[in-house]
Amino acid sequence: MNLLRQLWRSSLGKKYAMALTGVALFGFVVGHLLGNLQVFGAPELINSYAHFLKSKPGLLWGARLGLLSCVALHIVAAVQLTLLNRSARPIGYAGGSAYGSAWKSRYMALSGSVILAFVIYHLLHFTAMQPGINGVGDFNKLKTTLAGEPVADVYAMMILGFQVPWVSLVYLIAQTLLFLHLSHGLSSLFQSLGFRNHVWWPRITAASQIVSVVVFIGYASIPVAVLAGLGRDHAQKAKAALSSQPLESPESSIAGVAKEALK
Ligand code: HEM
Repeated sequence: MNLLRQLWRSSLGKKYAMALTGVALFGFVVGHLLGNLQVFGAPELINSYAHFLKSKPGLLWGARLGLLSCVALHIVAAVQLTLLNRSARPIGYAGGSAYGSAWKSRYMALSGSVILAFVIYHLLHFTAMQPGINGVGDFNKLKTTLAGEPVADVYAMMILGFQVPWVSLVYLIAQTLLFLHLSHGLSSLFQSLGFRNHVWWPRITAASQIVSVVVFIGYASIPVAVLAGLGRDHAQKAKAALSSQPLESPESSIAGVAKEALK
């Protein structure tokens, strides 16, 4: 425990923490992408996947808490590392930075902050389904059936969500920032873990670029495909549910109760 505390206090320990939490977050980004790409299949595919995740609350909340801890550690380590570097080198290098590192850490901080802001918007959009921010209506009303059981129509939610051009634009901007963050972050995590040498470094940087481009194309393909017409028929039918009033008998509504009282 003492050793861990000592390690955390050192800048090397913080670099390890950033690298390990970065690996975990990257694992989530890839897993989430693979799950989301099921939108290119039949609606039942992604709906049953989402239903499966929601039917395992222990697993879901365990993963959520793990993810949240990684995000918190990643940010705290990044901020403390920047402050440590600044206090160790208050004047800075002539020309602005050592090997461009000050510029890189600034753009990592900026891209990381935009990604965090996006994730907050994204959680309100698709997880909490806040009607005020999606430009469409109440996604909670989107229901379908799987094996006779009513479940959330996540497919319709994604299609209707991305049919709004400004929403797709927000996602595409965030995915561009995610690409920039990953393309530098992936290679620097190998550096933190000690894999920098003349033979491996060019390969690591090239592989990081390729992986980041693949992740970008994967995520960006979803809003782009929806704007190009993916799932249009399904969404057309689902849209009717958004404009429908909540199911309420005339007797149970306030107007109904007032009418009854006036009789
Ligand atoms: C086209 C891109 C994306 C799509 C279509 C998408 C779709 C979704 C959907 C449908 C949910 C809600 C799942 C549910 O509650 O049923 C979700 C949750 C989430 N997404 Fe995304 N997502 C995208 C990009 C991203 C990116 C780039 C990140 C992170 C950098 C991200 C992070 C999350 C997180 C943290 C959750 C909450 C998971 C949970 O605890 O339920 N998403 N996403």
